[in-house]
Amino acid sequence: MRDNTYDFGLVGLGVMGQNFILNVADKGFTAFGHDLDPEKVKALREAGGDTARVDASDKPEAFIASLKKPRKIMLLVPAGKIVDSVIEGLLPLLDNGDIIIDGGNSFFTDTDRREASLKEKGIHFFGAGVSGGAEGARRGPSIMPGGSRSAYKEVKPIFEAVAAKFNGEPCVAYLGPKSAGNYVKMVHNGIEYGLMQLTSEVYDLLKHAGGLSNDSLHSVFARWNKGRLQSFLVEITAHIFKQPDPLGEGRLVDKILDKAKQKGTGKWTSQNAMDLGIPIPSIDMAVSMREISALKSQRLAAARAYKRPKAEPLAADALEEFAEHALYFSFMVTYAQGMHQLAEASGEYGYELDLGTIAKIWRAGCIIRAGLLEDITKAYEEDAGLVNFLLSPAFIPKVSEAAGGARQLVAYGARNGFPLPAMSSSLAYFDAYTSERLPLNLIQAQRDYFGSHTYERTDRDGIFHTDWE
Ligand code: 6PG
Repeated sequence: MRDNTYDFGLVGLGVMGQNFILNVADKGFTAFGHDLDPEKVKALREAGGDTARVDASDKPEAFIASLKKPRKIMLLVPAGKIVDSVIEGLLPLLDNGDIIIDGGNSFFTDTDRREASLKEKGIHFFGAGVSGGAEGARRGPSIMPGGSRSAYKEVKPIFEAVAAKFNGEPCVAYLGPKSAGNYVKMVHNGIEYGLMQLTSEVYDLLKHAGGLSNDSLHSVFARWNKGRLQSFLVEITAHIFKQPDPLGEGRLVDKILDKAKQKGTGKWTSQNAMDLGIPIPSIDMAVSMREISALKSQRLAAARAYKRPKAEPLAADALEEFAEHALYFSFMVTYAQGMHQLAEASGEYGYELDLGTIAKIWRAGCIIRAGLLEDITKAYEEDAGLVNFLLSPAFIPKVSEAAGGARQLVAYGARNGFPLPAMSSSLAYFDAYTSERLPLNLIQAQRDYFGSHTYERTDRDGIFHTDWE
């Protein structure tokens, strides 16, 4: 190790951190890692040995001394208090103009607080969402940085080199000031929750209404992945059905307990959408379903207490066709809700987001990468002011054509007791969003009746109140 020579520093040498550093080194940069755990330091030194571009230390002083100025230090540590304590530990060792990049799923207001306080100390702070899991970190993630535009030029060459490429274009771009990067990653995760829930609903119907075996499920998802549903999540779903159980007979998927965990980013997306007044019910339902799934013992008691209708037979090929349409439809609706939230947040928080750029850097590397994102990118390139791409002329025929499949599936699910909450919410959202007239005039009447909350009229301007006796 020589002082002041390393291009890039990274704190937190878990799997993601180690992989990210090796990726940086593969692209010709020198990188120095730091972790208080000597075992992780040793593991990285061994893994990076043959690149000759990687070194690491468990001593913060040695780590900081190794880096070229202005220092570019990425943190890949769990979100929350640890980020603050790592920053506090490094701060006395840093110089004016150094750059800290938080690559974790930090809550966006934490990023705003850190950015503002570090700015006063002359340190640039970036909240950069990194998506793609351990494999993405190693081979090319999608990176969503937000922070100081002028400081971004220092990290840009490294980020562009390590990011995933789509048609040769790097899946990273400066997204906006302050917490823009973390915010965009949060909504990315909300969309991720929605797509995962929708996929699981379709799986339920194919397996339990259509009677498809794991091999057939594999074939269906693999076939879908070659068409308009092409996406990372559909691709891995096809693989999942093939995976044997390492501890016994049969396939692993059938042995996995049906309680889904969450780290919070989906919930934050929903909470913040409520604050902004932007409806994202497909994502809300995906969060609620993780919560319902966790109530396993209550579910077991309720399942004994309530009978389900006996499922009507449904021909597997018809089901498969409806399901493909329904999934495509509800994927579009879910992305549309997330993008709508981003459009609103951009104004509310001063992010100045370019939604076309966001769709572009999601086309490869990240968990929600999908062929559909190319169409979404084009829709925003054609009309940068588009608030909801369901209104884009290119999407209107696609959504209209696929909606029929969702209607078939949702109706079948409702008649036969299959829970399809994200899919039915997607359809209900679509039907409401495309309604010239909604029955909410009645709600206004009720509000005015019991609380004198007033109402507006359709035939004249002004605010009205009636004594409803
Ligand atoms: C990604 C993922 C990742 C996220 C996991 C787990 O883009 O690589 O979004 O950041 O942490 O998917 O999220 P949950 O534990 O909340 O499901």
